[in-house]
Amino acid sequence: MTELKFEFSYKSYDSIDDLPEEEQWLLSEARDVTEQAYAPYSHFKVGAIAKLSNGEIVAGTNQENASFPIGLCAERVLLASASSIFPKIPIDTIAISYKSEGNVSDHPIAPCGICRQSLQEFETRIGHSIKLILGGMSGQVYVIDSASKLLPLAFTSEELK
Ligand code: THU
Repeated sequence: MTELKFEFSYKSYDSIDDLPEEEQWLLSEARDVTEQAYAPYSHFKVGAIAKLSNGEIVAGTNQENASFPIGLCAERVLLASASSIFPKIPIDTIAISYKSEGNVSDHPIAPCGICRQSLQEFETRIGHSIKLILGGMSGQVYVIDSASKLLPLAFTSEELK
């Protein structure tokens, strides 16, 4: 028997003010774009802003539906938009924020499991790491240098070859 272990490191900043200027701007835009979310059921608005390697900026927000399971997370809306508008262009960074109505939004949230799977495949198919900047409307900010780090032992397209 061999015991194996996964470890990953990420950065934690006390506030948005401690980030480099461009990352501050991306997180601030992600905070603002939460307003475009359609979340009448959860009242939990998520905003994501990507900077592509060609310099373009693409947004995504969660889009819910009265048929709950078909609701889409902000991250996957963003990935679908980015690869539809700018096919094959790598994403350098995605900032993700949220606003929970009636609750404080003062800590980072991380992408859900389905979005981790989508982010992982986007990274591997383009061959480029996506840096994640995670932060609420205030408080600590996490920076993870590759989205795939959030999905150890991922199921990948290699298994289908
Ligand atoms: N949501 C996202 O958009 N991204 C995440 O990473 C977590 C959850 C959305 C889905 C749903 O519309 C609402 O947040 C509450 O789960």
